[in-house]
Order: sequence, then C-alpha cells, then structure tokens
Amino acid sequence: MSDKVLCVVGTRPEAIKMSPVIRALRQADGLGCRVLVTGQHREMLDQTLGILGIEPDIDLALMQRGQSLASLTARLLEALDQMLRAERPRVVLAQGDTTTVMCAALACFYLHIPFGHIEAGLRTFDTANPFPEEANRVIATRLATWHFAPTQAAVNNLLREGVPASAITLTGNTGIDAVLETPAIELPDALSDARGKRIILVTLHRRENLGDVLYQICQALICLAERNPGIQIIFPVHPNPGVRDLVYPLLGRLANVSLCDPLDYRLFVAVMRRAYLVISDSGGIQEEAPACGVPVLVLREKTERPEAIELGVARLTGTAPASIIADTQRLLDDPALHAAMAHAVLPYGDGRSAGRIVDVLARYFETRQRTGEPG
Ligand code: UD1
Ligand code: UDP
Repeated sequence: MSDKVLCVVGTRPEAIKMSPVIRALRQADGLGCRVLVTGQHREMLDQTLGILGIEPDIDLALMQRGQSLASLTARLLEALDQMLRAERPRVVLAQGDTTTVMCAALACFYLHIPFGHIEAGLRTFDTANPFPEEANRVIATRLATWHFAPTQAAVNNLLREGVPASAITLTGNTGIDAVLETPAIELPDALSDARGKRIILVTLHRRENLGDVLYQICQALICLAERNPGIQIIFPVHPNPGVRDLVYPLLGRLANVSLCDPLDYRLFVAVMRRAYLVISDSGGIQEEAPACGVPVLVLREKTERPEAIELGVARLTGTAPASIIADTQRLLDDPALHAAMAHAVLPYGDGRSAGRIVDVLARYFETRQRTGEPG
C-alpha cells in the first residue's frame, strides 16, 4: 500500500527540511506519502514549496496576519484533528519545533496515530529561549513514537529525558541534505549593489527578539553600515509585521543596506555561499552557514545548536548592540580571524539524513506486514 505516511508542513523551514524526506519516501518501494500543509505561513511557504517542486495534497490555509500563538494553536488543532480523521494516515511525520509541529503531535496523540518527530532532541533547557519553540519541542518529544535526532548531543538529551534508546535514531539534520543538494546559481542583477563588496547577510525573526531588542539590533546594523562603506548588508525581511514595520523605516534609506522580501531558497543559499559573514537569529541558518563555510554570528542569548560554536565557525554573539558591533568589526578587520572561521564543517549531518528516516519507517511497515498487525 502506498501513501501510508502523511508529512505535515507549516512554515518555510519545515518545507525546506521536509523536502528531502518527501522525495525519499516517494522513491522508496511501497511507501509514498501525502503532504499536508497547514499554511501557518503563506507567501513564504508557497515560495519554498514552488522552488522545491512540492505540490501539497491538502492545504488547511490557516495563516492570519499577526496571528497570536493561542489562536493559531486552536485553529491548527481543530483543523488537523478533522483532517487526520478523514485521511487516516498510518504514520504522520513533522519536522522541527513550530506550533504546527506541536499541534500535529498532539492531534496524532489524541487519535492514536504514530508520530515521527524529525529534528528531535534539540534543547536550550530554557522555555523563554527560543520562545515558544523550546516548549514545542519538549511537547513533541513527550508524544512522539519515533525520534529522529540530528546530532549525538540531541540523542543524549532524549535519553536523559527517559526516551527509550529503541525509539531514537541518529539521522543527521535533513536541512543539510537540502543545502548540499542545492545547485550553484549566479547572483541576479537585483543584487548587483553587492558586487565587489563584502556581503553581510542578515535575517531576524525570533519572537523573543521583537520590539526593543530588534530596535537595538537595527541600531547596531546602522552603526556597522555607516562605519564600513565597503560592506553590503543584504537583509531579506521576514513578513511578520513585528519585523517589517520596524526594520524598513530604520534601515530602508542606507545606501549599503539592501532590504528585500524573503529570497527563494535557492537564491538565499547562493547569497549565503557568496557572503563574507552571516548575522542571524535563525535556527536553520546556524546549520547551513557552517556547511557552506561561512562564519555566522548568532543573535540569541542561548542556542540549541552548540556544535558550530564549539568548532569555532559560529559565535553566540547575543543581542546587545555593543557585542554585535564588536564581533562583526573584528571579523571585518582581521582576515586571519575570518579565515579561521570560514571553513566548511558538517556537525549537523552528512547529507544522507532523509534516507535513514525512511529506512526506519520501511522496517516498521515490513514488521507489521510480517506479523499481520494492523497499521
Ligand atoms: C514561525 C515559527 C518559528 C519559525 C519561523 C520560521 C511558531 C510559533 N513560530 O515564526 O518557530 O522559526 O516560523 O520562519 O511556530 N507572515 C506572512 N507571510 C508568511 C509568513 C508569515 O505574512 O508567509 C506573517 C503573518 O502576519 C503571521 C506572522 O508573519 O501572522 C507570524 O507568523 P508565525 O508563523 O506565527 O510566526 P513566525 O514568526 O513566522
Ligand atoms: N531562507 C530562505 N530565504 C530567506 C531566508 C531564509 O529560503 O530569505 C531559508 C534558510 O536557507 C533556511 C530557512 O529559510 O533554510 C530558515 O528559516 P527561518 O530562519 O525562517 O526559520 P528557523 O530556521 O529559525 O526556524
């Protein structure tokens, strides 16, 4: 029987990191999958699905402008419950720590549907950082049947929380499969301001960084842009009104700051590969930049992805303007320091994570078929 697996996807990073799994399931004998998008994101999700060639089978179209966590959660849970009752998948997969993932795990739990959590076991052990993702991950762990952990540290976190070793597989992160598979492309003319300059690629969107923290980060970027005419800051601005409405008025008029809409994934990877430095509070970009050999300053107080920092290719800069300015300026002024950080490493995966996930599911279905147990 095919299409035993339902892949649930809500936001841009989930689409990127689920895409290698969807492809591997569709290529595996006797498996197959259907794709349910919750539409927690809209434009960014559609842009990403389009560039990765994923046609959703079901779209719950749930996004509302400026959605609150509570209303998003309520709408997701209700809509997922109805859709799971109608679809009756034998297994559900979701990736990461968004509200979509937490609700998918809970909806499956209520309906006794086995749930596989991809990128399981990341922890900061602080529910305020990142917010609400740390709580979402912990909830997904409590409810999951399979835990696909990206790193040994994530495996250890799960074991310490009492997850049985038999339920955990060290797979690597599927985001590394995606980035390594991304073809090289030229930067388009629209980014020609950056030619001949050192590119600093910036992304910001974490809820705990909105408001005054984001204002302060922008002040640090203004200072860096004014002090360093030879850099070009490229900043694809997240559509969250809490980001856009602050960033555009503050940074929009600086000659060496290019603000733009979110870049399609292939173009974003092309800019990242060409960048001198990445400054970001993103989760996925903390994994991708080291894989591309580009130093990354992490604008967070805590990270669940310490491996790149331990390897010396990323730095936990935090969000204080003085730290952002000092860490960036040091890398601009000291080519030796930059060179020491600018080498490609793969602590988050070897590019073959999706295959390992599919193998676990294939064995599960084989065993059930052999023993005659119902799905
Ligand atoms: C969400 C995830 C976060 C993830 C991020 C990836 C939660 C609580 N947050 O954060 O973990 O790191 O996605 O980007 O699950 N919007 C649009 N168009 C879009 C997407 C968003 O207009 O395509 C706007 C809407 O006004 C929306 C707002 O952004 O209400 C916030 O979206 P939401 O998914 O709630 O949170 P993110 O900050 O995007
Ligand atoms: N990304 C993209 N276009 C952009 C910015 C980011 O395709 O303009 C990709 C990036 O390569 C990474 C993912 O989006 O794979 C990260 O998403 P985001 O930072 O929104 O979420 P997080 O990883 O923090 O959950």
